[in-house]
Amino acid sequence: MRSPKKILIFGATSAIAYETAKLFARAGASLYLCARSKYELERLAFDLQVRGAAEVRISVFDALDDHSITAAIDACLEAFPDLEAALIAHGTLPDQRLCETDQSELRKVIEINFTSVAVILHWLALHFEERGSGTIAVISSVAGDRGRQSNYAYGAAKGGLTIFLQGLRSRLAKSNVNVLTIKPGFVDTPMTAHLPKNFLFARPDRIAEGIYTAMRRGKDVVYLPFFWRWIMLAVKLIPERIFKKLKV
Ligand SMILES: NC(=O)c1ccc[n+]([C@@H]2O[C@H](COP(=O)([O-])OP(=O)(O)OC[C@H]3O[C@@H](n4cnc5c(N)ncnc54)[C@H](OP(=O)(O)O)[C@@H]3O)[C@@H](O)[C@H]2O)c1
Repeated sequence: MRSPKKILIFGATSAIAYETAKLFARAGASLYLCARSKYELERLAFDLQVRGAAEVRISVFDALDDHSITAAIDACLEAFPDLEAALIAHGTLPDQRLCETDQSELRKVIEINFTSVAVILHWLALHFEERGSGTIAVISSVAGDRGRQSNYAYGAAKGGLTIFLQGLRSRLAKSNVNVLTIKPGFVDTPMTAHLPKNFLFARPDRIAEGIYTAMRRGKDVVYLPFFWRWIMLAVKLIPERIFKKLKV
């Protein structure tokens, strides 16, 4: 198991991404961090350097701004032409009820969770395909495994992302590039701060350990924690005529 030494992270301020970046920093990797806030990026860069990162560079980007995405990727590839791995972590969990009444909110959810990630993957695929090796890891969600009335806008974006990654994985396999789909269940992060907590919620550092190991092992798909694979298998097996009557 070899740990990549030059890694790009989109959504670097996410709690899960930060915990994963800490593990790469401890292994002495060089990191290129992208997020919305320059102040937070500078703070993270300092923190990760203290934790052992060989080098940390930053770029500001907003998932709703295509130009900032391509500018960040260009800047990263100029700094790290030998980029070995990427983790895409940004995302937003919307108010489903708001998505049912506000068209712009619905569009925003799809653009942040799906379209912006697909655009980033488009550029990264070209880089890694030409390089003939590499790892692309993306945080999708168990929510993408089945549409539920309580969060199908988010679920649809993540489900679309999962399918996109599946196709990309097959395309890039012949170029020796690994595409990892990460499907966490509930994680206790700022994204879920408003939700009542129960035993199913995992800590972000535990999810990060799973991501770090899966990236190093060249896995295709991981459910984190692992038991979500079995929970989602059961959820997917419920017949539609019963599922539509459940309040989930
Ligand atoms: N928490 C869970 O239960 C859970 C479960 C399954 C999957 N996930 C996925 O895990 C990933 C990480 O989430 P998290 O739990 O670590 O939550 P988090 O700490 O709230 O992180 C969300 C991240 O998304 C970024 N973001 C939101 N809108 C953005 C935009 N327009 N442009 C750029 N960045 C934007 C945020 O940036 P700012 O810091 O600038 O706000 C933040 O870095 C997400 O893809 C999420 O969908 C989470």
